[in-house]
Amino acid sequence: MKHEGKIALVTGGTRGIGKAISLRLAQDGADIILNYKTDSATAEATAAEIHALGRRTWLIQADLKDDKAIKHLCSTIKKDVGQLDILVHNAAFGTMGNILRMGLFSWNAAMAINVTALLRMTQLLAPMLSDSKGHIIGLSSIGADMTFSEYACIGVSKAALESLCRYIAFELAHLGIHCNAVSAGPIKTRALDWFQFPHAVDNYGETKSPLSRVGRPDDLAGIVSFLCTPDADWIVGQVIRADGGISMGENFTDWLEDGDEKEQALAKSAREWESAMSRARRP
Ligand SMILES: NC(=O)c1ccc[n+]([C@@H]2O[C@H](COP(=O)([O-])OP(=O)(O)OC[C@H]3O[C@@H](n4cnc5c(N)ncnc54)[C@H](OP(=O)(O)O)[C@@H]3O)[C@@H](O)[C@H]2O)c1
Repeated sequence: MKHEGKIALVTGGTRGIGKAISLRLAQDGADIILNYKTDSATAEATAAEIHALGRRTWLIQADLKDDKAIKHLCSTIKKDVGQLDILVHNAAFGTMGNILRMGLFSWNAAMAINVTALLRMTQLLAPMLSDSKGHIIGLSSIGADMTFSEYACIGVSKAALESLCRYIAFELAHLGIHCNAVSAGPIKTRALDWFQFPHAVDNYGETKSPLSRVGRPDDLAGIVSFLCTPDADWIVGQVIRADGGISMGENFTDWLEDGDEKEQALAKSAREWESAMSRARRP
């Protein structure tokens, strides 16, 4: 198993994408430190799933908006765990809305949780991560370098997170610490409910991905696990885009209005594919 004997901290590791990452790292052999903010029942249920895989867990409540809580999280890891190989900064915060209505509380909280918390955990946990020649992964979003309605608060903070990951990779490589980011498109979790029209986000993912579906938390988990292996050590300070291809480009038929024209275009395209494939199958 690729992470046997390793210990991973996953912030916000108790539900959604963080849970999928925690379970995958555990399946791959790691013991897991689960951080969460308030939902202790969900946290305990996730810890039980990890135990059932035969792994150890530590549950540490800490609101990453608060520097005292971050210090407590890191000192508990030093004192009670004594080893750290992987840090996945997955917990995030942001409010939806346009920039003219952006409240400073939300803006500052997004920066604090999405960016400053990673800086502080890196500072406080660097000695342990250096001892283990460990890996740091930041969870980002394609909204860092694309613009989406309502998304400025999170998008801007994720752009800062990606930049921080590059600086961590650049400056801490000599300590043996590896750092990269994973940038996701829409993934079906509770977080999507914060959008004004969650079903429009679903439709966007399904329409734009050539795989014709919205992302699932498991789509990211294996990528994060791989990036934390020595096989990925030549990937340094990169943002790995994992969005089912939705940011690749456009299919112009998606922009035809529903009706005869669209139906005819799709039917013609299907016929052309069928004939091209049957030609290609001929010996
Ligand atoms: N879902 C998407 O479409 C999508 C797309 C691109 C990128 N991402 C990124 O993927 C990551 C996970 O997203 P998700 O959709 O899985 O989120 P989620 O379902 O809302 O889960 C959030 C997790 O973070 C914890 N958390 C929230 N605020 C925290 C704080 N202040 N301190 C500590 N923990 C906190 C929550 O703990 P409690 O349960 O205690 O609240 C929960 O465990 C985020 O970085 C997000 O930006 C998501």
